[in-house]
Amino acid sequence: MEKSSFLNSSIGRKWIVAVTGILLIGFILIHLLGNLSIFLGPEIMNAYAARLHQLGILLWIARIGLLAVAGLHIFFTMALWRENHQASPQKYAVKQSLETTLYARSMRLSGLVVLGFVLFHLAQFTWKWVTPEYKEWIDSLGQHDVYRMLVAAFGNPWVTGFYLISVAFLAMHLSHGIGSLFQTFGLSNKKLRLRFQYAGLIAAWAFFLGYASIPAAVFLKLLPH
Ligand code: HEM
Repeated sequence: MEKSSFLNSSIGRKWIVAVTGILLIGFILIHLLGNLSIFLGPEIMNAYAARLHQLGILLWIARIGLLAVAGLHIFFTMALWRENHQASPQKYAVKQSLETTLYARSMRLSGLVVLGFVLFHLAQFTWKWVTPEYKEWIDSLGQHDVYRMLVAAFGNPWVTGFYLISVAFLAMHLSHGIGSLFQTFGLSNKKLRLRFQYAGLIAAWAFFLGYASIPAAVFLKLLPH
């Protein structure tokens, strides 16, 4: 198949959504592991963040790559959605059509919530627009005090509540996303489909527990302040 016709075909678009989805899951895993360093104390967490920033140009390449991957994921998801929406509904049995729209709708809603969350999250912790004082918080080693920033942010019940709800939506999105990956790559059949769906469910809610543990532990004052 020619390159352009692959991209224009429904299966080509599904592949791009799946491959970019895998790359985004890779980021979500690495970011989670990095953030869990909060449980090792301020020295280790701040040193980890400082190391990341010392990567300089490499960090910028990774950021631009991540932005491009997220952009492609959203663009091709929308293209697929438009395509499905334009397809004649008469072609499908009523039950199947209802099931697909229900799934598609929850994927769109959860995807939008995650996108909104990421924009707020960047404004809060990366650009520090929400609380500009965070920029000036430096630890005794002269590194940005990321630990103190997180402890301050998650001391607020609204921020903690917002994070917990957002990562629950992320888990919903990942659950269906991971479960459908195998189908896109043609690795699934009727018997395996249910197993992949369970695997997606377990992996997604493991991500939830990992991410939710951070604001929850701070809010419940389980970490030294
Ligand atoms: C609830 C737990 C989370 C915590 C504690 C957390 C913490 C942080 C912190 C501290 C930063 C700024 C790092 C720095 O510049 O030093 C950051 C950046 C970022 N986070 Fe999170 N994060 C969480 C969840 C998430 C989730 C669920 C996503 C994606 C779905 C995400 C996506 C990002 C992105 C894209 C950046 C920008 C990375 C960069 O500037 O290079 N975060 N996060």
